[in-house]
Amino acid sequence: MSQLAVRGVSKRFGGVAALTEVTFSVEPGEIFGIIGPNGAGKTTLLNCISGLYDTDAGEIRWEDRSITGLPAHRIARLGIGRTFQIVRPFGSMTVRENAATGALFGQPSGRLQPRQALAYADTVLDLVGLAAKRDYPVRRLTVPDRKRLEVARALAMRPRLLLLDEVMAGLNPVEIEQALDMVRQVNRQGVTMVLIEHVMRVIVGVCTRALVLNFGRPLIEGKPEAVLRDPRVIEAYLGERYARQGGPDASPTQADGEGGGGAGQ
Ligand SMILES: Nc1ncnc2c1ncn2[C@@H]1O[C@H](COP(=O)(O)OP(=O)(O)O)[C@@H](O)[C@H]1O
Ligand SMILES: [Mg+2]
Repeated sequence: MSQLAVRGVSKRFGGVAALTEVTFSVEPGEIFGIIGPNGAGKTTLLNCISGLYDTDAGEIRWEDRSITGLPAHRIARLGIGRTFQIVRPFGSMTVRENAATGALFGQPSGRLQPRQALAYADTVLDLVGLAAKRDYPVRRLTVPDRKRLEVARALAMRPRLLLLDEVMAGLNPVEIEQALDMVRQVNRQGVTMVLIEHVMRVIVGVCTRALVLNFGRPLIEGKPEAVLRDPRVIEAYLGERYARQGGPDASPTQADGEGGGGAGQ
């Protein structure tokens, strides 16, 4: 039984078909990658799964129940956490307080007391490698650290599935390696993951399977190496940039010119 099943999901914005009959499923413990050009519908897909958007058609099942049409806060409490492509921390609060907001408001067993929430924040900050900076005001954090905090905030809700939207965009190769370690570390705690990424090294480095979206439609799904070598994928998406990265065996290289597109949510 799949843990997450997306079946025939479609979503339009006026004349734009952002998603058309998208179907895939994720097994417990997987790290499932979603790739595709800007505007392919990746963020919209996460927004549909996390309940930020209603779907126009199709069904989304989570741990053997339908979550189609449930509001975002209910889906969060059922164990699905997410990050946002555009990170918006509470700037004047500390790193620790920011992480604690997730624990305060999101845990399935009801709200924690502030003291417990702060203690749990320490646990997740440790997991993402931010423990030493827990008392910093968020505005002092570098871009990679803000991404870590975004993951920590989502983890503080104790999700069993974590949806990551381009958390490695804008990171340099060393930072990407560190972020990959973080992803593996979180996954080892038993958290299933669905991650959107443009960086090929990430897809082949951690993903069990990958789905390519193109113009809102599934193009191909399979083992990362096979997907990235597929001629249709190279034509639709990877093209010249992929050739420059040297294929799936290349050292970590940030895909250029990506990461800021779409509606940003
Ligand atoms: N809230 C929205 N309102 C209108 N159009 C949207 C909205 N969100 C996304 N879109 C459109 O849907 C398509 C897919 O966008 P998005 O899911 O952000 O793509 P990706 O994350 O793959 O870059 C784009 O054409 C985008 O402009
Ligand atoms: Mg996006």
